[in-house]
Amino acid sequence: MSTPDNAISIQNVTKLFWGIEAVSRCSFNINGGTVTGIIGPNGAGKSTLFNLIGGQYIPDYGDILIGEKYVTGFTANQVAQRGLFRTFQVAHEYPRMTLIDNLKIAPINQKGESLLYNLFSSKKIKEEEIIYEKKALEVLKILELDHLKNEQAGFLSGGQKKLLEFGRILMSEPKIVLLDEISAGINRTLMQKLITIIKTINKEKNVTFCVIEHDMDLIKELCNTVIVMTQGSVLAKGTFEEIVKNKEVQEAYLGLEGQ
Ligand SMILES: Nc1ncnc2c1ncn2[C@@H]1O[C@H](COP(=O)(O)OP(=O)(O)O)[C@@H](O)[C@H]1O
Ligand SMILES: [Mg+2]
Repeated sequence: MSTPDNAISIQNVTKLFWGIEAVSRCSFNINGGTVTGIIGPNGAGKSTLFNLIGGQYIPDYGDILIGEKYVTGFTANQVAQRGLFRTFQVAHEYPRMTLIDNLKIAPINQKGESLLYNLFSSKKIKEEEIIYEKKALEVLKILELDHLKNEQAGFLSGGQKKLLEFGRILMSEPKIVLLDEISAGINRTLMQKLITIIKTINKEKNVTFCVIEHDMDLIKELCNTVIVMTQGSVLAKGTFEEIVKNKEVQEAYLGLEGQ
């Protein structure tokens, strides 16, 4: 049973693609206010799991809860209303829009306000735009992308696009953030900065983070708990130290068999 402390509960979740289980009877809880790492070999089902939590896919079996609320089958917008946001393994940006506009429209998209409402409240829109512009500039500064604010997002490198996507999340008021391989394509200096940003948001705003990562340094430095996935389900869960000592994990993932 879930407790009020649960940010996310995955209960016996299965997702099939053409009859093959990408996620297979997967169960775990993530406690509120923690930073949890998900590691595992390619094809283990990590991104599919994020797609299930984020409302991009619907599970074939099992349930997903955010806090105490069953969100199985919810759309991405519906889970966003509950404060859950995610980045994609391959970033989704608006390539022809500038960086600043990519950020400014994030909270507007999220509200899903009707065109009619917008037409009849242009004064309110103007006021909101000023607030979002200020916030977007702050976010670009944090991510060291402010010098590119008027560039089209399509011209960014893969790593910069991921930072921009993280920035879109920071434009909202997230309670839970899922990051899918955010460090890929980002240099060590910026990655260190990203770790600091995540730690600060986690501590100061009590935002729960769940990160899929291959970089074990990042996992070690950032995560209270590590979940190891193989073949669609959880092989082990524990602290970083417990995980690296675990024989099954060493054999299945870390490639340390016999050492
Ligand atoms: N949209 C899809 N259609 C068909 N198969 C998919 C799809 N998405 C993922 N898969 C398959 O599901 C399995 C898990 O993939 P994925 O969740 O991307 O793994 P990971 O993120 O751990 O590398 C893989 O075998 C992959 O080929
Ligand atoms: Mg993946």
